[in-house]
Amino acid sequence: MTYGFLGCGNMGGAIAARLSQSTKEITVSDRSGRAKALASELGIAYSDNIGVATNCDCIFLAVKPQMLGEVLKPLKPMLALRRPLLVSMCAGIELAQVQELAGCALPIIRIMPNTPTQVGLGVIPYCRNELVRDKMLAQWIVDMQPCGTLDPLEERLMDAASALSGSGPAYFYMMLDALADGAAACGMPKAKALDYAARTMAGAAQMVIETKQHPAALKDAVCSPGGSTLAGVRELERAGFRSAAADCVVAAYRKNRELGK
Ligand SMILES: NC(=O)c1ccc[n+]([C@@H]2O[C@H](COP(=O)([O-])OP(=O)(O)OC[C@H]3O[C@@H](n4cnc5c(N)ncnc54)[C@H](OP(=O)(O)O)[C@@H]3O)[C@@H](O)[C@H]2O)c1
Repeated sequence: MTYGFLGCGNMGGAIAARLSQSTKEITVSDRSGRAKALASELGIAYSDNIGVATNCDCIFLAVKPQMLGEVLKPLKPMLALRRPLLVSMCAGIELAQVQELAGCALPIIRIMPNTPTQVGLGVIPYCRNELVRDKMLAQWIVDMQPCGTLDPLEERLMDAASALSGSGPAYFYMMLDALADGAAACGMPKAKALDYAARTMAGAAQMVIETKQHPAALKDAVCSPGGSTLAGVRELERAGFRSAAADCVVAAYRKNRELGK
């Protein structure tokens, strides 16, 4: 399968880079020519949008959601002729909307990746329309392995996944930085504090994944009665940490729903 990218910014670039570990049959395009440098670094091709639409079997739609209609419009005749597999990562845009913007019935996979894809630890839920054959999907999943965890998800849950795992790295980075500021306030150099905080976050996350224990039970195991961790936990509770964390996902979900309208 030959792959193409319409748009190659943060997310498209991350997927192209990981995918290039599976195959070098990749062509990227963008508006400014910035992706040329990435293409030469990865040993893949650079072209314009029509070049991608003309030559690729599987085309990633990696532009901002509001740009999608404009980008697909001039490509409609070529898409109608070739009916390639489209893979949309546009937040909030449903499979049926992608098909409408593409102007014809063709196989479409919708994904919601996140930026840790760049280091092979992406969380990538996907759904597909009925024109994506099992064999085509299986090949795509094999080629996408270097990106991270691919998980089939009902389309009605994609906006929720986007608000959680798609946007999630931003929330975790904010928390990391804030925790490291706390350690810096206690005298630790900020760079060391960030390193400890990041490794602690990664380790705690791995504990949840591997032990499958509820995070509340894992938290209790760190909190001795009358101890220092509980003093910290009580500060988070006092500041409304849990409701702020839950509400930020709900706010992102609502915004995703608006983007799709
Ligand atoms: N960032 C994330 O964490 C994340 C997570 C999940 C899903 N997504 C989705 O991924 C998509 C891309 O987001 P992003 O964060 O990667 O955005 P981005 O960094 O701004 O990249 C957008 C890309 O689109 C290109 N582009 C714009 N107009 C174009 C045109 N007419 N023809 C060809 N290429 C064009 C840009 O090229 P120039 O640089 O040349 O303008 C750039 O390469 C969005 O739909 C978003 O919803 C992003």
